[in-house]
Amino acid sequence: MTEELIRTTNLVKVYGSGEHGVRALDGLNLKVMPGELVAVMGPSGCGKSTLLNLLGALDQPTEGEVWVAGENLARLRDVDAFRARTVGFVFQLHNLLPTLTALENVEAPMQGQVSSQRGRRERAAHLLETVGLGDRPGALPSQLSGGQRQRVAVARSLANDPALILADEPTGSLDSQSGAEILQLLADLNRSQGATILIVTHDRRVAQTTQRILRMHDGRIVSDHQLTDPLEEDLRMLAYSKLGQALLGDDGLQPGYLSREEEATLRRLLVKVGEAAGQTPKE
Ligand SMILES: Nc1ncnc2c1ncn2[C@@H]1O[C@H](COP(=O)(O)OP(=O)(O)OP(=O)(O)O)[C@@H](O)[C@H]1O
Ligand SMILES: [Mg+2]
Repeated sequence: MTEELIRTTNLVKVYGSGEHGVRALDGLNLKVMPGELVAVMGPSGCGKSTLLNLLGALDQPTEGEVWVAGENLARLRDVDAFRARTVGFVFQLHNLLPTLTALENVEAPMQGQVSSQRGRRERAAHLLETVGLGDRPGALPSQLSGGQRQRVAVARSLANDPALILADEPTGSLDSQSGAEILQLLADLNRSQGATILIVTHDRRVAQTTQRILRMHDGRIVSDHQLTDPLEEDLRMLAYSKLGQALLGDDGLQPGYLSREEEATLRRLLVKVGEAAGQTPKE
C-alpha cells in the first residue's frame, strides 16, 4: 500500500492565549496521497493559510501531529533543510527577489541542495522553459507581467523537485486569463511530474481543474469531495471547453450551431455537473 504524503491528526492551532486566543484549526484530520491535486476552499478566516503553514513547517501546531513524506514535522532536526528539499511554496503575492533575474530567482532555492553552479543554472533554465518563460531568463521581476512573475514563482517552487507544492491563492493577484493559465500550469505539473499539489483558493475555476475539493469552515474540514466518475470528469472537461463556456456564458452560442433543444439539454447537463462538484456561485 502506498503511504500517504500528508497526514494530520487532530490538528489544533490557537493563536494567542486566554480569552483572546483564536482557534484557527480545530481538530483537523487530513490525508493526501502522493500525486493528488487538491483544492482547499472556504470563507476568509476559516484556517486555510494556517493549514498550509503547518504543512510546510512554517509554523507549529498547538496540538496534534503533522506528517509529511514520512516525517513527523515536530521531530525535524533541520527545518530549513526539510522545507528546501520537500516543499515548494507559491504565494498570492509572488514575493520574488526584485534585484534578481527570473533565472536567478529560480536558482536561489537550489543553494545548498544542488552543488554545482552550472547544474543550478541549467536546471533553472529548464524550469523556466517548463513554465513557458524560456525566452526571458534575464528579465527582472519588474520587467515581467503579474502572470509571468507568478510563472517564475511556480518554476521556483519546483527548484528542488519537491514532493509537495503548497500554493496559497496563487491566482489571487492576477486577472482572470492569467489566473486560468497558472491553474492550468499547476494542473499540468501535477499530471506530467506527479507533483502533489494543494491549492488554496476563492476562485471557483481552481476547483474545476482539480480532482478533490476540501471545504473548510471554522478550522475544520466540512466537506471532502472527490471526483472519480470518468463520465463526470468528461462532462466537466466539456463544461470548461470553449463550447461549454460559450454555452454557459452570457453570449451563448452562435445562432444555428445547435438546435434549441440540443442547446437546452447540454446547458442543463453542464449546470448539473457544476452542482455535483459542489460549486456554489459565490464563496
Ligand atoms: N499570526 C496570527 N495571529 C493571530 N491570529 C491569526 C494569525 N494568523 C491567522 N490568525 C487568525 O486565524 C484565523 C485563520 O486565519 P487564516 O489566515 O488561516 O485564514 P484563511 O482561511 O487563510 O483566510 P483568507 O481566505 O482570508 O486568507 C483567522 O481568524 C485569523 O484572524
Ligand atoms: Mg489565507
